Amino acid sequence: MTKSWKTKLIHTDAKIPEGYRSLSFPTYRGSTTLFRSADLATDNWDQWQVGYTYGLYGTPTVLELAARVCELECGAHTILTPGGQAAISLINLALLQSGDHILVPASVYYPNRKLATRLLSRFGIATDFYDPFIGADISALIQENTRLIWCESPGSITMEIQDLPAIVAAAHARNVRVVLDNTWSAGVLLDAFAHGVDVTMQAITKYIGGHSDLLLGSITVRDDALYQRLGAAQQVIGCAVSPDDCSLALRGMKTLAVRLSAIETSALAIARWLSGRPEIERVLHPALASCPGHEFWKRDFLGSSGVFSIVFKPGPTQQHVHAFVDALQLFQVGYSWGGVASLANAYNIGRFPGRPSYGHRIVRLNIGLEAADDLIHDLEQALRKLAA
Ligand SMILES: Cc1ncc(COP(=O)(O)O)c(C=O)c1O
Repeated sequence: MTKSWKTKLIHTDAKIPEGYRSLSFPTYRGSTTLFRSADLATDNWDQWQVGYTYGLYGTPTVLELAARVCELECGAHTILTPGGQAAISLINLALLQSGDHILVPASVYYPNRKLATRLLSRFGIATDFYDPFIGADISALIQENTRLIWCESPGSITMEIQDLPAIVAAAHARNVRVVLDNTWSAGVLLDAFAHGVDVTMQAITKYIGGHSDLLLGSITVRDDALYQRLGAAQQVIGCAVSPDDCSLALRGMKTLAVRLSAIETSALAIARWLSGRPEIERVLHPALASCPGHEFWKRDFLGSSGVFSIVFKPGPTQQHVHAFVDALQLFQVGYSWGGVASLANAYNIGRFPGRPSYGHRIVRLNIGLEAADDLIHDLEQALRKLAA
């Protein structure tokens, strides 16, 4: 067929050499996915079962990242979402229905709490918040209609480590599934499935992404039945992920081990140094005995990452604490963590039953890849100003 140049723009006969090989996985972009014939066209979402059908359900770049996360977490299947919070929402929307009840730790990531109280409640799903240290006593809170128990270990900002095996045993005895937000461990420093968890999610945004330039989440499940529920819900909710972001996450994944190891060493050195400071009441770093639940960290985790909190002794006002954060020169203020730049955020933890009320005295640090000594000097000069 002879073609006009306009047609050639769309249907080309141009050829390039074959046989290119690279160390990086290609970025396949695409909404439309082509079928070989009319009778092969299908809208089935399960690309592992039927091949590629539509960009919403993943291009090879998306599935490559999903498969790699699944391999690292030792799960059965992984589904990717546009962010960690989207993973939390998809789990609840896929696995719950009107009339159900869920249990959520009081120390949970705040948007997870808000989802339960402000949105799930409108769809007839009830939530009770529990003390993160409840352990086996969670049995007493399980109702006939309890379907999910959420765990997050360590808890957001206040850093409580939970007794996961005790909660899992109590849940499974009553046929209730356990979901874990495993973001702090990057999915690798805690083997959630070995501890009996049914579903994990993590914000890939943090350590796997690793450079504060993408938003992605993952959900990993222990069996096919959960995968079918989640995949079918993702299809109708339509939360697709960007292959470009997945490509960045695949690149981030290659350096995850060295970043985590360097961050762990620095964070521990800084946490220990802070423990000796007269201004600090408590350092909430899971690998230190001063962190509530440290014994569970020691028993269950394979290491520690770089997010922890400090609690000032009573005295400084909220303004003083903010002035301390503002006096830091290397630590910057900003949400999200797990990247290469150190961050410091001041919080004012309100009174939630089951959560220690440190008030305005708590600051969360994200340790990045700067030299630990420089970060210590930075903290030292800011603490000196606090005392002045
Ligand atoms: C523990 C935890 N889970 C989930 C999320 C949500 O991740 P994303 O920002 O990718 O939505 C965050 C974000 O800060 C988090 O800290």
